[in-house]
Amino acid sequence: TPTSEIRKGLAGVVADTSAISKVNPATNSLLYRGYPVQDLAARVSFEEVAYLLWHGELPTAEQLAEQTRAERAARTLPDDVKAAILELPTACHPMDVCRTAVSQLGAHDPQAEDSSVEAELAKALRLWAVMPSVVALDQRRRRGELGVEPRDDLGYSANFLWMAFGAEPEPAVVKAFEASMVLYAEHSFNASTFTARVITSTLADMHSAVTGAIGALKGPLHGGANEAVQETFEEIGSADRAVAWLEDALASKKKIMGFGHRVYKNGDSRVPTMRSVLGDMVEHYGEPGVLDLYDTLEQAMFERKNIRPNLDYPAGPAYHLMGFDTNIFTPLFVASRMTGWTAHVMEQRAANALIRPVCEYNGPEQREVPGSAR
Ligand code: CMC
Repeated sequence: TPTSEIRKGLAGVVADTSAISKVNPATNSLLYRGYPVQDLAARVSFEEVAYLLWHGELPTAEQLAEQTRAERAARTLPDDVKAAILELPTACHPMDVCRTAVSQLGAHDPQAEDSSVEAELAKALRLWAVMPSVVALDQRRRRGELGVEPRDDLGYSANFLWMAFGAEPEPAVVKAFEASMVLYAEHSFNASTFTARVITSTLADMHSAVTGAIGALKGPLHGGANEAVQETFEEIGSADRAVAWLEDALASKKKIMGFGHRVYKNGDSRVPTMRSVLGDMVEHYGEPGVLDLYDTLEQAMFERKNIRPNLDYPAGPAYHLMGFDTNIFTPLFVASRMTGWTAHVMEQRAANALIRPVCEYNGPEQREVPGSAR
């Protein structure tokens, strides 16, 4: 029976149960399958986190070796997907390239219409494994560079950096990038994950669900915020201009990107870890001005609006220091969140109910069509 109360944006609506992650705004904590995300970032690899999200437990050494073998074997793009990426206009946003590539990969996937648990796990792994090839190739072609083939002697993050920049990645950078991948991997019923679940609920295939999720992630109120943060930093320029910039922006009712959160109102538990990663990158690349600006804007925003930063705030400038182009930041988020999205697709499928809410109609009353019957 429909309730009469309208919850705009579905804010606070409990839409289903999930065992994948727990967001607790009261304690500012985020748990993946029970483990605090900041502890996972400090102690285990992104590959282990992927396994954890899909299977519910961290892998044994053998399980990890098996997943690693399969992931490394699935890193290469089919030739025609590679060709299609190279042909897309460089004027389009890289998220359009991700969305298109995933859709095309679905058309290729021999198990596209097989929704057995084994097939879904295999597809999730393939999608996750191939994403760095999509994202790195796109950044390179936009820079007028040739694509770099994946290396099967490198872990997920190191190989990602290798393919993006064509150079042996430095351990400090791999460590920082890896932490960002772990932190972005999963976040309960956020807009893109919910989109994936809505699509799955119609019994559509995993690639359709993920293609839709990428569309939802593109927007600046969701994943697009990490790019917008970097643009804000570039617009402000230096810490001494931050307060005046913020006053102007708030006066013109702008949303300050990288701040605020639908769920966490007292701070995002992922921020301290990513702020520390940003600190490592600032030290590594010798760019102290970034942190001055970061801290000044954060403090000013807190004093003026009592609003704290979300994960995108430290992630944007960290990716910039690592050398990624700004428009590639959200596709990096895609590669990471592929793990969470696909875990949710599998969970939705295992206990499915078509997601189909109702609305309160507020258009014209019933009326007559003008003219006489034909
Ligand atoms: N800048 C300025 N004011 C803000 C901001 C912000 N970033 N965030 C919230 N507010 C204000 C908002 O104007 C409103 O004020 P008032 O009550 O006076 O109208 C109040 O705080 C409540 O905000 P809201 O927009 O109703 O809250 P919400 O839960 O609908 O929005 C949000 C959450 C993330 C969409 C919003 O905070 C926002 O637009 N932030 C900027 C974009 C951003 O950083 N997004 C990344 C989200 S986290 C990563 C992810 O999960 O993808």
